[in-house]
Amino acid sequence: MPNASIAINAGPLPLGGGLLALLRPALDALEVGGVLALLSSNAAARDDLPTWCKVEKHEYLGCEKVADADRHLIARGGFNLPRGEREHGLRLPLRDGKLMAADVLATIPHAATADPATGLAPRGARVEPGGPEYPFTLNERDRVAPPDVAQLYDQAVAAQWNAQTDIAWAKIKPLPRALETAVGQLMTFLAENELSALYLPSKFIARIHPAYVEVGMFLSTQLMDESRHIDVFLKRARANGGGLGVSSATTSASLHSLLMLEDFTEAAFLLSVLGEGTFLDLLRFIEDHAPDEPTADLVRRARADETRHVHFGMSHVRHALATDPSLYGRLENAVRKRAATLHNAGGVPAAVQDSLTVLAARGTGPAGIARGHDKFAELLHVMHENRVKRLITAGFTPEQSQTLSDLHTPNFM
Ligand SMILES: [Fe+2]
Ligand SMILES: [Fe+2]
Repeated sequence: MPNASIAINAGPLPLGGGLLALLRPALDALEVGGVLALLSSNAAARDDLPTWCKVEKHEYLGCEKVADADRHLIARGGFNLPRGEREHGLRLPLRDGKLMAADVLATIPHAATADPATGLAPRGARVEPGGPEYPFTLNERDRVAPPDVAQLYDQAVAAQWNAQTDIAWAKIKPLPRALETAVGQLMTFLAENELSALYLPSKFIARIHPAYVEVGMFLSTQLMDESRHIDVFLKRARANGGGLGVSSATTSASLHSLLMLEDFTEAAFLLSVLGEGTFLDLLRFIEDHAPDEPTADLVRRARADETRHVHFGMSHVRHALATDPSLYGRLENAVRKRAATLHNAGGVPAAVQDSLTVLAARGTGPAGIARGHDKFAELLHVMHENRVKRLITAGFTPEQSQTLSDLHTPNFM
């Protein structure tokens, strides 16, 4: 009889009464061909074990009497052997009592390509062969997962806020009608754009291979953020009598061209780098000219969330550009195509432009309106300048950045 590398004692347990719960994990810990010794005082096991081994494709090597028990020897077979190494001794570090997703990613890094046949198995699990191929289409790390995505997810989890209780709604006081109407119009425009940022990432989540689950998890935090933004902007529109304003055909055409995107990198670029990037400046403008502190606060909070979404987009694009030299041409094409569809749509919707002017004027006095008008013109300039800076940071040349920013000009989002 060969030597066993593991021994277990099953006492009187019958095969159908718990013995397998000891035997199967013990065999699982062995290499193929490794030998297990099983001590058993159950007489029926003498017949049951060889039969079970035959069905499970393990090799039953025989049995010898030891004191008042049987010592069965079994060599581990390779049937249905899960692929990969079992995780041994993996212990995530505590950081101020917290466990971080970034530490999981650091421990089990993203593979360059993912196997569609591993299905929904969490990364790190050993996968039995024989499962079906899943229809994921985002199976390449460099087209899906920027290196800092898990850190962004951890930050997003820590930064969630509550639109019911974190805004001092009771502090909103009556405003002149024209100003409140302008606030209502701006909140309508913001909410409509937020809806595009809810819908566009959501259509990619189910295409992402679970090997890059942190990307889906991060995008889910974005969906929660955008939901909260829609909620908080619609609440502000209706909190003080302003009510909703107009949804313009220009905005609709602009957002439609975003929603039609089918490439994840193009979507991350157009939505998060150009659109949400430009939105940072719009939100800053509304915050700076907000008529009351709760309005400034809710816009400031939304901007903090948007900064994270922009960071994800920039990181995604920078990483993809560095690994795919043909990407710039594709992205420029996507921006050109979008600009062409908006050729006749005109620039910023009139109602939005007027409302931003009234907001910056703090009312409708002609002197204030003149100032508001100048501030609006300055906003467009600031948006362009910051867009170029962001594009350079995302890995484009200054010339490319200038071209892309000019093409984006008719859109805010
Ligand atoms: Fe948002
Ligand atoms: Fe966003």
